[in-house]
Amino acid sequence: MPVPLSRYGRVFDLLPEMIFILDGDQRIIDHNKAASTESGFSEEEINGMKITDIVVREYRESLARLIRSDALQRRVEIPLLKADGTSFDASVDLKILKTGEDLYHIVIARDITEQKRKELDLLRFSNVIHNTVNPIQITDAKGVMVYVNPAFEKTSGYAKEELIGRNPNILNSGRHPRAFWQKVWNEILAGKVWVGEVENKRKDGLIIHTELVISPIIDSRGKVVGFLGAHRDITEQKALEQQLIRSQRMESIGTLAAGIAHEVGNPLTSISSLVQVILRTTQDEFAKEKLELIKNQINRITRIIRDLVDFSRPSNYIIKATDINEVLRDALNIVQYGKKVKHIDFDVDLLPSLPKLQVVPDQLVQVFINILMNAVDALDGSPGTIVLQTLQKDKQLYVIVRDSGKGIEESELEKVFEPFYSTKEVGKGTGLGLWVSYGIVKNFGGDIVVESVPGKGSIFTVSLPVKGE
Ligand SMILES: Nc1ncnc2c1ncn2[C@@H]1O[C@H](COP(=O)(O)OP(=O)(O)OP(=O)(O)O)[C@@H](O)[C@H]1O
Ligand SMILES: [Mg+2]
Repeated sequence: MPVPLSRYGRVFDLLPEMIFILDGDQRIIDHNKAASTESGFSEEEINGMKITDIVVREYRESLARLIRSDALQRRVEIPLLKADGTSFDASVDLKILKTGEDLYHIVIARDITEQKRKELDLLRFSNVIHNTVNPIQITDAKGVMVYVNPAFEKTSGYAKEELIGRNPNILNSGRHPRAFWQKVWNEILAGKVWVGEVENKRKDGLIIHTELVISPIIDSRGKVVGFLGAHRDITEQKALEQQLIRSQRMESIGTLAAGIAHEVGNPLTSISSLVQVILRTTQDEFAKEKLELIKNQINRITRIIRDLVDFSRPSNYIIKATDINEVLRDALNIVQYGKKVKHIDFDVDLLPSLPKLQVVPDQLVQVFINILMNAVDALDGSPGTIVLQTLQKDKQLYVIVRDSGKGIEESELEKVFEPFYSTKEVGKGTGLGLWVSYGIVKNFGGDIVVESVPGKGSIFTVSLPVKGE
């Protein structure tokens, strides 16, 4: 029988793949050198074997069937047997060769053990990257994102489809000067690792603080082919730090204010009683008129002093289990009674059957009257909406008051809680409202936070803890 390989046999011997020629019975009638060196069977042994003899038992039938089938070109991955009984993964191509009347099957097999090992390594590695809680992004050498993991999608608020193919600067918060990023690029383009804290912007506009490590991905020839950015989300940690700084500042301001109130309070009481005495004894109409005015001013100062002291001395109100929705309805009733609310649309969305809170109801009513009145004032008499909403998340209740009023500049956001900070006309606001409210809420273990977009409106969120029985 003519053997098709014989003419070019020497050439086939140069190829690294194992090549077998089979007759119609799938018997090996010729093969190249690699076929014997790779499998460990001697040249003599191979000729006359069936091809399935060098296939791991469980795969024999399926390979035999595939060879019998008519398709001209087929490829499978199966484990092949070596003479010493061990096996290795091979990629096997099956082809048909027709010369005249004769038909041969050609089997070309390639050892893919190494390739499989690399694939597995890669799979392990990509699984780690994919499933870690750390947000990770990979870019190409030009800085275009080619991969983001699910944690990155979650933290940024963008879906990967919106990120892949884009430059990471779509997350730019604008909080770092251009020179900052220039320096980062200089470092990483020079093949160095950059570590630092960055502030990025989520899709919904919120700021995320992360600790970022950017390392260049360098190929075997030393060329930078991309960058790996691994983040650690420290937004919550930052928020806690801010909160701590703020409550410490408020505490020291509080002590100061209480001290002043106390010092001013005593002489004020004497002035007030002196005014009363003169008012009662004098016959001078002019003096009487002016003393009335003084009395009014003294009353006003006394109110302010009372607010200041009230908040800093332990309250003698009684704490009781309180339905927050009732508190809110009370506050709303009082606020809606005013004549400034004519053009305002109140959108009230209170979650029914919330757990009761351990608070002093009257104090909380005072808190919400102030926050709601501020919202009304922020609308300045023009039509708008005030949304009042309650939410529960785990062991916290949230009351959200959102207005479509004039908003607060970012630089002023923290100041609104300070005593005597007011942008209202003299006589319209003392600037104690939020300060007192903050103190009351803090007393019950809660917090007030504010977000605002100037010109668009503000959101005040009061959180209060749900305590056990
Ligand atoms: N919803 C809001 N929209 C815009 N600005 C607000 C809002 N709430 C508070 N502010 C700003 O915060 C400042 C302080 O508020 P706060 O309630 O402490 O004092 P006030 O309302 O000015 O006076 P008071 O409440 O003592 O009568 C306000 O003057 C205003 O500038
Ligand atoms: Mg107020």
